[in-house]
Amino acid sequence: MHYGEYLHLDKLLDCQTPESDRKGRPAHDEHLFIIIHQTYELWFKQVLHEMGMIQSLLGGEMFDERDGGRVVQSLTRVLEIMRVAIHQVDILETMTPMDFLEFRDLLFPASGFQSLQFRLVETGMGLRKHNRVQLDGQDVDLRLKPHEQKQLRAAYEEPSLRDLLDGWLVRTPFLDADDFSFRASYMKALEGMLEHEAEIIRAQPQLSESDREKQLENLGRASSMLDAILDDAAYDALKESGAWTFSRRALEAALFVNLYRDEPALQTPFRILSAVMDIDEAMTNWRTRHALMAQRMIGQKVGTGGSSGHSYLSAAAAKHKVFGDLFSLATFMLPRSSLPELPAPMKERLHYHYVSSENGRS
Ligand code: HEM
Repeated sequence: MHYGEYLHLDKLLDCQTPESDRKGRPAHDEHLFIIIHQTYELWFKQVLHEMGMIQSLLGGEMFDERDGGRVVQSLTRVLEIMRVAIHQVDILETMTPMDFLEFRDLLFPASGFQSLQFRLVETGMGLRKHNRVQLDGQDVDLRLKPHEQKQLRAAYEEPSLRDLLDGWLVRTPFLDADDFSFRASYMKALEGMLEHEAEIIRAQPQLSESDREKQLENLGRASSMLDAILDDAAYDALKESGAWTFSRRALEAALFVNLYRDEPALQTPFRILSAVMDIDEAMTNWRTRHALMAQRMIGQKVGTGGSSGHSYLSAAAAKHKVFGDLFSLATFMLPRSSLPELPAPMKERLHYHYVSSENGRS
């Protein structure tokens, strides 16, 4: 095996063909522009590769502790790739708007809109058409080539990471143990905490009456969101409004995992939930960074793909989050010191025991 043959460098390094060269007016920075985009596409390919692994493990019949470790590893890898993706914008920003103008006109109507792999990453995460920013009533998927649209449609039919995570949380076995009612003990502790928050708002001297009312109203809304997590009927009513998107049972399980994450059996589930939030946040950071970079390069001009440019991109950064529910759960966290004690048999089940084969002691 030879290095260059193994990596197909003959093909890989022969794929940079600046349009400005072809048109006979070479623009130095177009080479960087191409390399950057190609590098992104390679990273998107790796992200999809990892997501395939994560989806097959989470969607499998059995999911044990070893699978959990593997899922965390792949999620962490995706996160690190996204961090590199954000950082790569710095390299592209060494190109100035005037450098870009040397070849920008040659790109129309090509655009990042046509990146199938980016759409597949978003779709695999759980973003669906109805959650997208509308583009003058046009379907962004139509920007893809027909065979790519077909591939994307197939991806919509597959369970996303969000769907699989929901299903996996629903299967959390601990919530309905005979000797433990999570809802009752937790609600009691939380009522005190929410009342304490209301006291803080009432006692804030710098708040105007209308701001105070607004903040208390928000707190009341948070309280009804919590009721919905713990009550089927309240949940159905609230889900219609889009306040929660996960299933009720999954949210309850996620809450339980977050609150009792110090228990050994809940540490891997906690790491999985944290990792998907990290990735969602990194995707938002990338979108925001890309929107700012686009503004810096083209100001208020439209994109080569025909969108409003920066304003479309920043709206997408704000809207295209997938795991907002997990972030909202922070409203309902308690300090460790107020956490209801788990019953002893439940604690026992959440612990691992190493049993020595020699003396049978654990
Ligand atoms: C000079 C640099 C760049 C500028 C000015 C720019 C500008 C834009 C604009 C204005 C859009 C909105 C669609 C349109 O009207 O064309 C867009 C979309 C997009 N761009 Fe860029 N872009 C740049 C570099 C990049 C790079 C390096 C990537 C890496 C993959 C990228 C990926 C994307 C993606 C995936 C979209 C679709 C986003 C979505 O629909 O949410 N862009 N870009």
